[in-house]
Amino acid sequence: MGIECQPVTGTLGAEVTGVDMANPTDTMIDELKKAWLDHKVLIVRDQHITTEEHIAFGRRFGELEVHPFATGRKDHPEIVKIKSTAENRYAASNWHSDVTWRQEPSMGSILRGVVIPPVGGDTTFADAAAAYRRLPEAVREEVDDLFAIHDFTNTFGRRLSPEDRAEKQKEFPPARHPVIRTHPDTGERSIYTNRAFVSHIEGVTAERSDQLLDILERAIMTPSVQMRVRWDVDTFVFWDNRAVQHQAANDFWPETRHVERVTVVGEKPF
Ligand code: SIN
Repeated sequence: MGIECQPVTGTLGAEVTGVDMANPTDTMIDELKKAWLDHKVLIVRDQHITTEEHIAFGRRFGELEVHPFATGRKDHPEIVKIKSTAENRYAASNWHSDVTWRQEPSMGSILRGVVIPPVGGDTTFADAAAAYRRLPEAVREEVDDLFAIHDFTNTFGRRLSPEDRAEKQKEFPPARHPVIRTHPDTGERSIYTNRAFVSHIEGVTAERSDQLLDILERAIMTPSVQMRVRWDVDTFVFWDNRAVQHQAANDFWPETRHVERVTVVGEKPF
């Protein structure tokens, strides 16, 4: 039968049917890889699979990373568990692409809804290539060849003691990535800075770096380049970290929201 993709906006994202994540055939994986490049975010619903199957499915797309800070599931280190409760009100509500503080950040993430609040907790995605194309030409020319420094210290680093942070900084030194990256498969250019992990843009004053980071984030925040996912339990969303940015709405407390991610290792951005 093959998979079917129903676009959800004029820019990015598709609801995909015809997928059985428990029994992924080679053909299905090939179709999903193509759909992932075409739509950048895929929503696959009603997949009642085990954690082991989630991990095995992720491995069909590449090596899975073990997150050094989000270590919620000791039994399955490849799973990033993001659980928000009334007592622990955490949500990934800053615009970002996953783990850009790594030298070789993620190519893609596959996130599962485990416990979903009755309303709220949606995830919004922005097409970072469409956002780049909408920048004024003068800004594009200014940022096209610049590099930005990404590091974990302002986010995950805040939860560490000064000694542990210093140790982790040796293991994960700041990463230097292009402000505008080129997708290795599609050749599209897209905005690759975010306020969560970027400390500054190199080669410009601190003031201009701040201004540019704001301009680039505002481009990402434009509704015309966005789509929004309403979660259900056992909904899976696949996104291409080389092409989109995302953020989760923190509008659901005191309800619980629990999602689990596998993250596919990527390449050094260029
Ligand atoms: C993430 O940033 O990987 C999590 C997004 C979400 O919680 O919706």
